[in-house]
Amino acid sequence: MITQKSIQEVINIARVEEVVGDFVNLRRRGVNMIGNCPFHDEKTPSFTVSPSKNIYKCFGCGKGGDPVRFIMDHEKLSFPEAIKFLASKYRIEVEETEDTEAQKEQKLVTDSLYIVNEFARDYYVNNLFNRTEGKNIGLSYFKERGFREVTVRKFQLGYALEDRDDLTSSAISKKYNIEHLRTLGLTTRNDVDFFRSRVMFTIHNVSGKVVAFAGRTLSSDKKQPKYINSPESEIYNKRAVLYGMYFARDAVRKEDECILVEGYTDVISLHQGQIENVVASSGTSLTREQVNLIKRYTSNIKIIYDGDPAGIKAALRGLDIVLESGMNVKLVLLPDGHDPDSFLTEKGTDEFRNFLNTHVEDFVFFKTRVLMEEAGHDPIRKSVVIRDVVGSIAKIQDTFARTLYIRQCSVMLQIAEEILVSEVNKVIKAELRKKKEEQRSGEQVPEMSREEEWITPKPVLSQEPPEFVQNDAWQERSVCSVLINYGHKIMEGDENLSTAAYIIENVMEILQYFDSDLCRRILEAVGHELAAGHTPGHNWYLGHEDEEIRTFAVNALSTPYVYADWERKETFLQTQKMPDDNFVRDAENAIFRLQLRKSNRIISELQNWLRENMAADNTGEEYVVNLKVLQVLTERRNELASKLGTVTL
Ligand code: CTP
Ligand code: MN
Repeated sequence: MITQKSIQEVINIARVEEVVGDFVNLRRRGVNMIGNCPFHDEKTPSFTVSPSKNIYKCFGCGKGGDPVRFIMDHEKLSFPEAIKFLASKYRIEVEETEDTEAQKEQKLVTDSLYIVNEFARDYYVNNLFNRTEGKNIGLSYFKERGFREVTVRKFQLGYALEDRDDLTSSAISKKYNIEHLRTLGLTTRNDVDFFRSRVMFTIHNVSGKVVAFAGRTLSSDKKQPKYINSPESEIYNKRAVLYGMYFARDAVRKEDECILVEGYTDVISLHQGQIENVVASSGTSLTREQVNLIKRYTSNIKIIYDGDPAGIKAALRGLDIVLESGMNVKLVLLPDGHDPDSFLTEKGTDEFRNFLNTHVEDFVFFKTRVLMEEAGHDPIRKSVVIRDVVGSIAKIQDTFARTLYIRQCSVMLQIAEEILVSEVNKVIKAELRKKKEEQRSGEQVPEMSREEEWITPKPVLSQEPPEFVQNDAWQERSVCSVLINYGHKIMEGDENLSTAAYIIENVMEILQYFDSDLCRRILEAVGHELAAGHTPGHNWYLGHEDEEIRTFAVNALSTPYVYADWERKETFLQTQKMPDDNFVRDAENAIFRLQLRKSNRIISELQNWLRENMAADNTGEEYVVNLKVLQVLTERRNELASKLGTVTL
């Protein structure tokens, strides 16, 4: 592990204009520099570098960050790798903590597993090209399917002989450890080869290392499984691997879209046809880990499914998990009886592309349409469909997108928009409540955090008091954004009080009511730093070990004043034109606004409690105490409201 000291050293020394300048031709424009964005194709430059803030931002594609983020994105490196990259540019010696004995041993084992898999891959490839059985059966099969030799070599396809232990004995004669062969599933418990008489597909991870194999039988014996696969191991987690991602990732990034197909052969065929942004989920339905992997390269996903009913069902099943991750999901259904491989082989690349473009459908609308057609006029089945669609819409992360989907689906489902809105809100509310309960009981929190506001139902139809209708995530983010931008500055009139200290002092007691886990984590971490006598500056956030905090900081620093768009009526930061000069007012306003909302929530919870307990016992001690608390809180709330009244309206 790289030490925190070295990380900070690199972050402190790396200049954005120098780091970006190695890859992008930059010109001065005022205090900033500008160039053509390296992350998307553009003719007029919208890629802006701010040397004073040490960040870059593309106003075309939205990518932005600090020097480390640039190297991670541009060179496709992990955070520690990017730190090392920059360290070598600036000739900084990176300090790493010594691995423990256990860690060293683990590394050794992992390395040898990769080495054994590489041996097996070379062995299978050699069989295919150089041994009679492999050439006659395997290679001729691939040729018959139309796979060219370059393609077969690129994807490292191979052949496993019929012999019972040719691989195993050849590995042993070369002194490979039999235990490793067993761990990788290449050799069975009885010391025979696991893959026999099959053509072999090599499965790589994103960095091109061999993690597993799949073997396809060529026999028509129905009792033989068509494919058999390597078992999971320390180097193979099948939920996290997408077949072909290593070969597809550059194209996925360039096209800003990932095409998802079902089979290994589909991936290979499309690549051969020069459609290279393609991966396969290997027969299983898409997992969260796989979605996160795609999300590293693009947020657009196009799923191609075969036109049979099973294919459609599979498509619908994969839907919600992708929506949840905030991705845009499109779907293409192929004509009956075709899979991508057969369709491309028959029609050729141009016609295939053309078909994709003309038959692409939005996933939610597709689902709504297909399910409604299936339900016909049966009211009960129709209500099941509505529930199903409501569930999907509730998973969509973007508030505006959700509103648009609701509008369109209300037409398709023939149901009033208002009803759909309130149904969607119910689902979101239930989900949030469930999440909170899970957190309380210490269960693992889902990795995708849910921080969007809820859609506000039209007031007439709202059955709920408004304080239950929204959560406070965006106010919380505003506070954190001010904190990150200006926390290290000194508040006016008080030479010893940093803005960070002021913010922390004022939010500590409402921290337990925060809706955003991330914001709570940020504030808690800053609280610890302050307690230790250190006031965090920009670089502390940008170099934080928590990836989510780093990302949040990058966004906060590149676009600190987005609040006005989030909620047009509540423009509480009025210093947008000269933000750097008015951070004190912004800090105060952000905090007042948040405190006001929290007070309102606590007050209404208290009121409910009092209402419920009134009849039972209105003289008990707890009741009286709560009544007092309510009074105090209400007074404070009114004070806050009047303060805000003078500064916001
Ligand atoms: N699959 C699997 N095990 C099986 C059948 C299928 O793992 N017994 C997975 C494989 O990843 C396969 C995918 O499901 O690639 C799609 O299955 P299918 O369409 O049957 O296979 P193809 O790869 O299209 O094979 P082919 O074109 O050779 O029939
Ligand atoms: Mn196929």
